[in-house]
Amino acid sequence: MIDLDQLTVPEIEELIHLANDIRSNPWAYRESCRGKIMATLFYEPSTRTKMSFQTAMYRLGGEVIGFDNPGNSSVSKGESLKDTITVIGGYADLIVIRNPWEGAAAAASLYSGVPIINAGDGGHLHPTQTLTDLVTLYNEKGRLDHLCIGLCGDLMYGRTVHSLIKTMTRFEGNSFVLISTPELALPQYVKDIMDAAGCKYREVSSLEEAIPSLDVLYMTRIQQERFPSRESYESQKGVFVLDNKKLLAAKKDLKILHPLPRVDEIEVSVDDDPRATYFRQTVYGVYARMALILTILRGANIGVPKKAKTSTHPYHCTNPRCITQTEHYLPNLFTEAGGMITCVYCDGRTLI
Ligand code: NCD
Repeated sequence: MIDLDQLTVPEIEELIHLANDIRSNPWAYRESCRGKIMATLFYEPSTRTKMSFQTAMYRLGGEVIGFDNPGNSSVSKGESLKDTITVIGGYADLIVIRNPWEGAAAAASLYSGVPIINAGDGGHLHPTQTLTDLVTLYNEKGRLDHLCIGLCGDLMYGRTVHSLIKTMTRFEGNSFVLISTPELALPQYVKDIMDAAGCKYREVSSLEEAIPSLDVLYMTRIQQERFPSRESYESQKGVFVLDNKKLLAAKKDLKILHPLPRVDEIEVSVDDDPRATYFRQTVYGVYARMALILTILRGANIGVPKKAKTSTHPYHCTNPRCITQTEHYLPNLFTEAGGMITCVYCDGRTLI
């Protein structure tokens, strides 16, 4: 499970329904993964994603191994991703991986004998957060289509934003308002996906201007750790702050989501507004991940990569944040179209 585009829309809907069934009847599922082991390999900090995965597995009756500080594992001795994954695949039934390099989960999947779940690969994708967001929207808005979705903050490095937009373009009638500074605008490849799906979107630099039209407002943290320099981060921080005054112009049934952690982009006073959905969203995340773990460990044939026409090339990916920059043994895998190659790991594009 590297990217939700590996699943059909009915498969995604099935996961949402399973998550809701688990939510209504948790006791019916408490032995479902008895005897199974999930490994959580977190090369990057995490609170919710890691702990909601762990909670999910324990609530299904399974067990968890792993590390959340690669400094305490053989990674600190220079072990490659390939070797770590090959070994852990012999211990666990399922591997959940978060890594700062874009495309790391796809790379891991080349060497794993067990299913891999991408829990965030650098600034690229975060499919299980999207599954969480979908379960949240389905329950709180009652639908996943015909929504006007505003996404605000770090649209450049925000992996949750990329995964969410990619998935929401697949449901009918959704439109997007991209609220960011030009420096943190959405990557072109995600815009191209919206265009290809025929989704309407507009780019604005004012949260006030965007708010009245929105059904959903997805706030994000400025991703400090992904900026090339301290100065470039300092120039972007604190630009967008949601407060009660701005919410006066919002719809009564707006839903405010945030993958969390929050820094300063939503004032604490907003937490008491009934439209603030972000803490309930963290609970939906446990059920979403229970549904995913259960479905994968039942052996359902989901998540088969659908990247057609993949070929190796003499070229190298030019994205400095791509996993191929650090794990040099990885085959160069690209798809090719219109004089451009796209890296299969990170979606980075290079002109040829
Ligand atoms: C997000 C992440 O790690 O990408 N958090 C999460 O998984 N819930 C968002 C963030 O770190 O800002």
